[in-house]
Amino acid sequence: MRKAQPYINGKWIHSNRPTALVKSPYSGEVIGEQWLATTEDVESALSSAYEAKKEIASIPAYERSKILKKAAMLLENEKETFAKYISQELGKPLKNTLDEVSRSIETLEQSAEEAKRLMGETIPGDASHRGTKAIAMTFRVPVGVVAAITPFNAPLNLICHKIGPAFAAGNSIILKPAPQTPLIATELLKLLLEAGFPERGINMVLGGVEVGQQMVKDDRVNVISFTGGVVASRNICALAGMKKVLLELGGNAATIVHEDADLKRAAALCAKTGYSNSGQSCISVQRIYVHESVVEPFTQLLKKEVEKLKVGDPLLPDTDVGCLVDEAAARRVMSWIQEAVASGAMLICGGIQRGATVEPTVLLNPPKRSKVVCEEVFGPIVNILPYRTIEEAIAEANDSSFGLQAGLFTNRMDIAYKVAHSLEVGGVVINGTSNFRLDHWPYGGVKNSGIGREGPRYAIEEMTELKMIVFQIPE
Ligand code: SIN
Repeated sequence: MRKAQPYINGKWIHSNRPTALVKSPYSGEVIGEQWLATTEDVESALSSAYEAKKEIASIPAYERSKILKKAAMLLENEKETFAKYISQELGKPLKNTLDEVSRSIETLEQSAEEAKRLMGETIPGDASHRGTKAIAMTFRVPVGVVAAITPFNAPLNLICHKIGPAFAAGNSIILKPAPQTPLIATELLKLLLEAGFPERGINMVLGGVEVGQQMVKDDRVNVISFTGGVVASRNICALAGMKKVLLELGGNAATIVHEDADLKRAAALCAKTGYSNSGQSCISVQRIYVHESVVEPFTQLLKKEVEKLKVGDPLLPDTDVGCLVDEAAARRVMSWIQEAVASGAMLICGGIQRGATVEPTVLLNPPKRSKVVCEEVFGPIVNILPYRTIEEAIAEANDSSFGLQAGLFTNRMDIAYKVAHSLEVGGVVINGTSNFRLDHWPYGGVKNSGIGREGPRYAIEEMTELKMIVFQIPE
């Protein structure tokens, strides 16, 4: 049985702590055990992170870069093992977890490269009549302690997205991974230490909301980087006081399929990116606005593509759709499908639950205010919503409390330009769906989808302060 242990002040903690079993959501089999951090553990981790901050800031950039590069290399060597571990722990198919490990390697590599590019500028003073004998220089300096709170849905890469930039910038870290996926976090931490991560440069505490709250409230933390839901993020903001808070939150992502679109390509990509990881991604395709003139052929094409998806054991190499994180999540998703159908949506396919698995589901024309349309599904449901004019599609897509990413299929430049500039989101993908992300690009949203941007270069900006040094030239 694998074990997940808190790592505090350079030591693994594995005794006299409350424990919780870790089960595969697909088979129900017990695959591991985690030791939960006590209040005293969290306090020790916070004080260790705080005390280590000078030591970490003094490691030169080339060293930090070397360590992150080595971590990427070690992960490359363990790619299949890590992918299998995530599939077991989360029920995410091997196809997706192999991709997640590759992406994590890139995230670490990009962080390693960015560690060497923490640059500032020189600003001549003579733009002001009072500054003719002065010059300023700016530097990017670490904030101190970064608290990273990560979700279950991409349990390796989303940790790398916080730890990579935080360390690249010279910060000390306290990490709380999702309670559903502590085993993979433990494996990653072991690998980081093997790569030469300073023993006191990172602390890891395991547990639930109360552990996170203790971290968030503590004034020794300088930046909180959280990925998760809106409700939790509101609590974080209420507790954080004067700390900087970075939030990568959810969405009910829209993709527009215009009348001139390549429908086959659009349907294939919507099927591929609407159900990967059973829709448990913040940018999963959820609302597809389809021009009324092509609704019928698009629906048929999408149905055909969705029915090709292999649903089943996440550990089999040809499985496309595994299960949700637990059975409760599957029951919730089913209740949302039932609510939509009862209020007039047409069930095109899916709508069947087995344990934690929900078959990929397509709904046509669910009511605008149904949960499947206006809330974040985080499950394998894709909705087809007809529109008449592109203005109407833009207005419907924007009629959301979220704004993370959106997609658009069209061959017309004028439509692409208009839609891209009118959608209230952090990123628009033309001739692709909302669910396309490269890890070095800026990633983040507007409205309830978050504050700040991830992607190593952008996260480093968030996790550093701009420090100015001024030289006055004596007369
Ligand atoms: C997320 O759910 O925000 C992560 C999506 C991704 O990295 O592909």
